[in-house]
Amino acid sequence: MIVGVLKEARAGESRVSATPATVEQIRKLGYEVVVDPGAGVAAGFTDGAYEAAGATVGEAVAADVVLGVNAPDPSQLDRVRPEATVIALFSPAFDPAMVEDLGRRPFTALSMDAVPRISRAQSMDVLSSMANIAGYRAVIEAAHEFGRFFTGQVTAAGKVPPAKVLVAGAGVAGLAAIGASGSLGAIVRATDPRPEVADQVRSLGGEYLSIESPEAEVSKTGYAKEMGDDYKAREAELYAAQCRESDIVITTALIPGRPAPKLITAEMVASMKPGSVIVDMAAANGGNVEGTVKGGKTVTENGVTIIGYTDLAGRLPAQASQLYGTNLVNLLKLMTPDKDARLVLDWEDPVQRSITVVREGETAWPPPPVQVSAAPAPAPAAAPAPAPKKAPMTAGQRFGGVALGALALFLLAAFAPAALLPHVTVFVLAIVIGYYVIGHVHHALHTPLMSVTNAISGIIVVGALLQIGHTSTAVTVLSSVAILLASINVFGGFAVTRRMLAMFNRS
Ligand code: NAI
Repeated sequence: MIVGVLKEARAGESRVSATPATVEQIRKLGYEVVVDPGAGVAAGFTDGAYEAAGATVGEAVAADVVLGVNAPDPSQLDRVRPEATVIALFSPAFDPAMVEDLGRRPFTALSMDAVPRISRAQSMDVLSSMANIAGYRAVIEAAHEFGRFFTGQVTAAGKVPPAKVLVAGAGVAGLAAIGASGSLGAIVRATDPRPEVADQVRSLGGEYLSIESPEAEVSKTGYAKEMGDDYKAREAELYAAQCRESDIVITTALIPGRPAPKLITAEMVASMKPGSVIVDMAAANGGNVEGTVKGGKTVTENGVTIIGYTDLAGRLPAQASQLYGTNLVNLLKLMTPDKDARLVLDWEDPVQRSITVVREGETAWPPPPVQVSAAPAPAPAAAPAPAPKKAPMTAGQRFGGVALGALALFLLAAFAPAALLPHVTVFVLAIVIGYYVIGHVHHALHTPLMSVTNAISGIIVVGALLQIGHTSTAVTVLSSVAILLASINVFGGFAVTRRMLAMFNRS
């Protein structure tokens, strides 16, 4: 079979459904690849690069498997062969007219934006890979409009405060935006009705703003549900307070199958400082912000810029194409089980069933729902029994130990030479104090502790060197052993420190 890579018909689209790198992977499945002339130019891939990867430049729409980013335009669809399969982003959930049009055509149409968000399908999840890029790009667009540092600085010429970023919705795009803003040095806060995202927000360096409401509960599907009036009132309060002090607001709130929830009112926008920037990522779906212009940019009377671009992923076209292309390769791998250049649509497979809009001319939309569970895994039924702990000493045992130690000290005091007693006392006290002090040092402080023990070992070496020339053989032997043991500690400490430092060495 031949796989065709379309030149995107939609004006302004810079992505392409296959890159030279993914063409090579498609060819490994046995397929021949035909690429429309100039298909990858907007993403930086020349026809020559595709040819070098083993593709031929020709008419892609005549192939057996036709790949596109957006739905092909009607003139392209008219030229698709009846037995072919077209794979693109058809948005069947939002575009009933498209489903109707496809239903009148004889071929099979698969929509990549319908891949269910289940673990098995992650490698084909186009919405996530595009949202990840778009979240990053939203921050870059905001930073460009903001025109100031994100990071705080203390310079000889004065102090620059860090920018404050608020991210509404901590799904894929939101988390990418949190990571990107944090890495630029901003103070990042985020909120989301799904409390399970709090740890993810914190792990990216953000602060999670929780909205205390009985409605905010762990999602069983990985998606938020439509919230009730109580939650909406509390979140409105939070957004109003946050807008007053944030420099950048990035909104990504989405409830599947519904228009985007309106979170930021015109009043809240009016309360923001002049020069602040809002990026409304949900612009294509109605917008989270009052006053967003879909696909454009607007500046309010009080100098707040609202960005409603709907092509954020396409603004990083090479990487967006590479990730989209890889999602397609993963789907082709799934549908080409024998790597024999034969595309097989497995109707029993929930992923393939979910993305099928039309099968050989028969409308198959909407698909049956897929069981998705993002709830935390239940605890294992029977946890393995913990290893039996050493029983603590009884009072009698302790008393016996102390009595034995006291007897040993008494015998030593009675029979040992008088000069030895102060040394033994210091030695015993050092053991007791050392045991309790070092035993209670937190693990995180073991490295500085090692430096202290190295210093003590140094003192031991100096002391032993002073004693090594003593007339008594026993003292000489003891000094030599002390020098040996203390040196192991000193040099061992250096060796361990060197290895630890090497772990941070980028080169
Ligand atoms: P997602 O489903 O992973 O995340 C959406 C998040 O919004 C979820 O965590 C959900 O709990 C949260 N949410 C729902 N109601 C909320 C509320 N009232 N307040 C705060 N958070 C709320 O979706 P993903 O993939 O991150 O996409 C986010 C948005 O970005 C979507 O609207 C998507 O269409 C859009 N998008 C825009 C692009 C562009 O170029 N402008 C490109 C890619 C995605």
